[in-house]
Amino acid sequence: MARIKIDTDRVIGRIDPMIYGGFIEHLGRCIYGGIYEPGSDLADENGFRVDVLEALKALRMPALRWPGGNFVSGYHWMDGIGPAETRPVRMDLAWHMEEPNLFGTDEFIRFCRLLDTEPYICVNMGSGTMDEAQAWVEYCNGDGGTQYAELRRRNGNDDPFNVRFWGLGNEMYGAWQIGAYSDPAEYARDAVEFAKVMKWTDPEIKLIGCGRTGGAGWDSTIIGPLVQHIDYLSLHTYTGNADPLANTVQPLRAEWAIRNTASLIEMALQERNLSKSIPIAFDEWNVWYKVRDGRERGKINKLEEAYDLSDALAVAVYLNVFQRTCNVVGMANLAQMVNVIAPIMTRSDGLVLQTIYYPLQMYRNLSLNIALDAWWECDMAHLEGDRRFAGVPYLDVSVTRDEAGENLTVAIVNRSSDDSPSVTIEITGSDVPKQSAQAQVLNGPFPHAANTFDEPGMVKPRKKRVNVSGPRFRVKMPKFSLMVLPVRIGKEAAKPK
Ligand code: AHR
Repeated sequence: MARIKIDTDRVIGRIDPMIYGGFIEHLGRCIYGGIYEPGSDLADENGFRVDVLEALKALRMPALRWPGGNFVSGYHWMDGIGPAETRPVRMDLAWHMEEPNLFGTDEFIRFCRLLDTEPYICVNMGSGTMDEAQAWVEYCNGDGGTQYAELRRRNGNDDPFNVRFWGLGNEMYGAWQIGAYSDPAEYARDAVEFAKVMKWTDPEIKLIGCGRTGGAGWDSTIIGPLVQHIDYLSLHTYTGNADPLANTVQPLRAEWAIRNTASLIEMALQERNLSKSIPIAFDEWNVWYKVRDGRERGKINKLEEAYDLSDALAVAVYLNVFQRTCNVVGMANLAQMVNVIAPIMTRSDGLVLQTIYYPLQMYRNLSLNIALDAWWECDMAHLEGDRRFAGVPYLDVSVTRDEAGENLTVAIVNRSSDDSPSVTIEITGSDVPKQSAQAQVLNGPFPHAANTFDEPGMVKPRKKRVNVSGPRFRVKMPKFSLMVLPVRIGKEAAKPK
C-alpha cells in the first residue's frame, strides 16, 4: 500500500523559479559546436544554433551560469571581447583544449537576451585578479564614463548589461582547479576582497560565495567570514550509478548537503546577529558518472554522457529535492545544457533531446510556486554502503500549489522497476472537485532505455487521464516512472467550467 497525504495549508515556502536554471561552460562541444556554430546551416546571423536555442527556450530557464566551471579559473575575460580577429587563441588548461575566444561576454549576453534568461557570470579566482573581476563588473554594468564602460560602448553595447548574479570563483577547494586554495580561510579572505570591489562597482549585484557540499572543513570555515559579503552560497553535487535504484536514490545526497549547509549559514548569521538570509545556489548538479575523460588531450567530444530513463528519474528526484527545500535554496543550475553532460546533443545536421530533458520541461511547466510539506509512506528500498540509504521509500514526492489555492501539482517518482503501486492520494485543506485530471508520465521500455538520433522517441512524456473522484483518490504509478499530476482544488475549482 502506498499513500500520499497533502494538506494544502502546510506550506514549506515559495519556490524561487531560479531553481530551474542552467549552466554552460567552455568545455568540449558545449559552446563551440553546441550553442555557437557560425557557418552552420542551422546558425543565425550571430552564429547561434537556432535549433539549440529553440530547445533551450522550451525549458524556460530563468538563469544561465557561464563561462565555467573549471574553465573560468584560467579565463581572462578581456580575451573574449572586441573584433574577432584580435582575440587570442589560448590554451585551456582546465580541459586541455584550444580556446578561440570567439564566444565571449558580449556573445553570452546576446544569447541570454534571445533566451530571455538572466546571465550569471562566475569570475576567475584561480589565475585571475581582483582588478580583473572588478573591471568585468564595470564592463557589464557601468553606466558612467569610465574606461571599461566605454569599452563596452565601443564594442557596440551602449546600454549596461546589468548582470545581477556573480560567482566568487568555481570549486576553489579542489586540486583539479587552476589556482585552488589549500586553506579555506585564505579563500575566504580573498573572496571578501573580491566581493568588496565588485559590490563597490555595482551595489545592486548579488554575489555567490563558493561553497562545497555543506561539510566540516571548507564550508564551516568560509561561511563565517563571508556571510556579510555574499548573497548566496553555492553547492555542487554530481551523482550516478549503473544500478537504476541506486541512481535514483543518490540525488538525496543533495538534500543532506542543503540541510547541513543551511544550518551552517544559520549559525553564522546568528553569531553575527545578522537579519539577512543567504539562500543556497546549487549551481552545478546532475547525473555524471559514465564519461569522465574530460582532460584527455586532443579529444573534442568531452563528457558526452548518454542519458537513459534511470538518469531522467534521478534528475526528477533532484528537482523534487530543490522544490522541497525551497525555503533555503534560491537558485539551482543544471550542469550542463548542451553536449557536455547535457539534455541536448547536437550533430551538424540537428539535435536529439536526451531523456533528462523531459523532467526539466515537465517540472518547469507544471510545478506551481508554493511548495507543500507532503507526507508519504510506501515500501522501502534498502541499499548497501551508505547508512543514510539503509531505508529509502520507493516513491519520491514533491507537491506544489498556486498562490490562489486553485491548483495543485503532485510530482511522484517511482524508483521500483518491479512494482506499479496503486497510490492513494488524500488532499485536505481545500475542496477537491471530481475531475478527470491529465497527468504527464515519463517512462520507457526498460530503465536503461535512451534516446538516440536513430531512435529519438524511446523515452518521452505521454499523457495519462487520472480519475480524481474527490479529496481521496487512487492513481496507478507505472513501474520506474515519473508522474506529474495537476489537480484543480479550492472553492473556485468546484464551479463548473
Ligand atoms: O560540469 C563539469 C565540471 O564539474 C565543472 O567544470 C566543474 O565545476 C565541476 O567539477
